[in-house]
Parts: sequence; C-alpha cells; structure tokens
Amino acid sequence: MKGNGSEIPIQIADLQKSFGEQKVLKGISLQVKSGETVAVLGRSGGGKSVLLKLIIGLQTPDGGSIQVAGKDITKLDEPQLNEVRKRVGFLFQQAALYDSLTVEDNVAFPLSRHTKLSNEERSKRVHELLADVGMDRDLGKMPSEISGGMQKRVGLARALALDPEILLFDEPTAGLDPITAAEIGDLIINLKRKRKMSAVVVTHDVHGANAYSDRLVLLHEGSIAAEGSFDDLQSSQDEFVKQFFSYSSR
Ligand SMILES: Nc1ncnc2c1ncn2[C@@H]1O[C@H](COP(=O)(O)OP(=O)(O)OP(=O)(O)O)[C@@H](O)[C@H]1O
Ligand SMILES: [Mg+2]
Repeated sequence: MKGNGSEIPIQIADLQKSFGEQKVLKGISLQVKSGETVAVLGRSGGGKSVLLKLIIGLQTPDGGSIQVAGKDITKLDEPQLNEVRKRVGFLFQQAALYDSLTVEDNVAFPLSRHTKLSNEERSKRVHELLADVGMDRDLGKMPSEISGGMQKRVGLARALALDPEILLFDEPTAGLDPITAAEIGDLIINLKRKRKMSAVVVTHDVHGANAYSDRLVLLHEGSIAAEGSFDDLQSSQDEFVKQFFSYSSR
C-alpha cells in the first residue's frame, strides 16, 4: 500500500493537547510534503515527543486534526490505525528495543510480523538494514550488551525495516559521537533522495538539523515560534528564537 502521490504525508491543523491543567500544545498547524524533512526544535519539556506520539496515534489530541498518509488518524479504530502505522517508521527517544530479542531479531521483528519474506530474504534484508547504520557486526548481541548510541542505530534500522513512506525520529542523534551523528544525518539525506521519504525529526542539534532538513520548526510554549530555513530562523528578530539560536552556536 503506497501513497498515490497527491496525498500530503502529514497535515496537522490546530492540534491541541493538555495533560490535566498543563497545556502542552496550544493549536499547532504543520504540513510535511512528500519528500520533505522537517526538523522540530524547542526546549526540553516543550511537547516535541508528545507531537510525534500524536502523529502516530499513541496519544489522542484534545482538539484539531491529524492527517497521516491521507487518513485522519483521530477517527480511526485500532486495526485501521495499525494499517497507517505500517507506512510510518518511528524511532522513539529511548530506542525502545525488545529487551529479550537480539539485535538481529529486533530488526527482523516487523518483517516477520508484516511481510511474507522467506527466512533467507528476511535475513538478507536485516543484514542490509544493520549495515546501513553500521551495526552489522553485533547481530547476536542483546540490547543490554550494546551502548546507548548503538541501541539508537538498531532502533533506526528497525524503523526503516518496512520501507516506510514517512519517518518520525525522536532525537536520532542525541548521545551519539559527532561522526556517528553526521552519518545518521547523511542516512536521512540519502533516504530522502532515494525514496522521497517524508520525515519529522525532533532534535536539539540545530546544526545537524540544518544539514539534513528542508525546514525547521521551533516550538515554544505550545505554539510554533518560528518556521523556515536555518537562515530564516537565524535572522529572526523574535526574542525567543534569537535566544535559542545564540545558545545553539555557543
Ligand atoms: N503521558 C503523559 N502524562 C502527563 N504528562 C505528560 C505525558 N507525556 C508528556 N507529558 C508532559 O508533556 C510535556 C511535554 O513533554 P515532551 O516529552 O513532549 O517534551 P519534549 O519536548 O519531548 O522534551 P525533551 O526535549 O526533554 O525530550 C512535559 O511537561 C511532560 O511532562
Ligand atoms: Mg522528547
């Protein structure tokens, strides 16, 4: 099941989410076009992870609409939501690997569940996916036996397993050394080029985001404080945007 090309991969309008008295998102509107990578930046606790979880239907909004691959996901039941989720690769902030499965089996899991590949084909695909993130030497290790950055790379391989049209990445490069972080950034660029993949990447790395994204969105106090290219944001006169960028370049 692939998009028909005219679908807008992600379209969010007036999205609102509160937890009790706390208003986390106060009416966010955001569109991600086919082949576009949008980086979402903002302060810790600002609602970036919540935004991604809403896009994948892991949390329900209090108001507004969220269209993913042409479907209003707020109106879908669980089986319909799972169909949409197959088209979306999701990398959680904590890589969230299955603790009792090896690296190899973690990446094989979505393939076993959702495809009819033979054991041999599946194994080949898992090796390719892990090679892309430089993790093909650690196939038999358990998640507890690899470092945090390595777990993240395995999570990325798993997110890509079903060849998704849409990728949602929550801090894919946090905690990685600068070389590996740049490699992950290059991987995102290649995926976009090769597959016209659309992505939302939450990150604290402004310079990384500049390298791999088409557009930056800066969340602040539940709203979008600024949106545009790196240069647009860097030349913004908004006090918060100026402050955010001045600290980012220290
Ligand atoms: N399930 C939940 N129940 C209650 N509050 C929540 C829940 N999930 C998130 N929050 C609150 O929503 C706010 C935004 O959280 P979120 O995880 O989206 O922040 P973030 O922007 O991703 O921060 P960071 O950069 O540190 O990852 C926080 O104040 C958090 O405590
Ligand atoms: Mg977060």
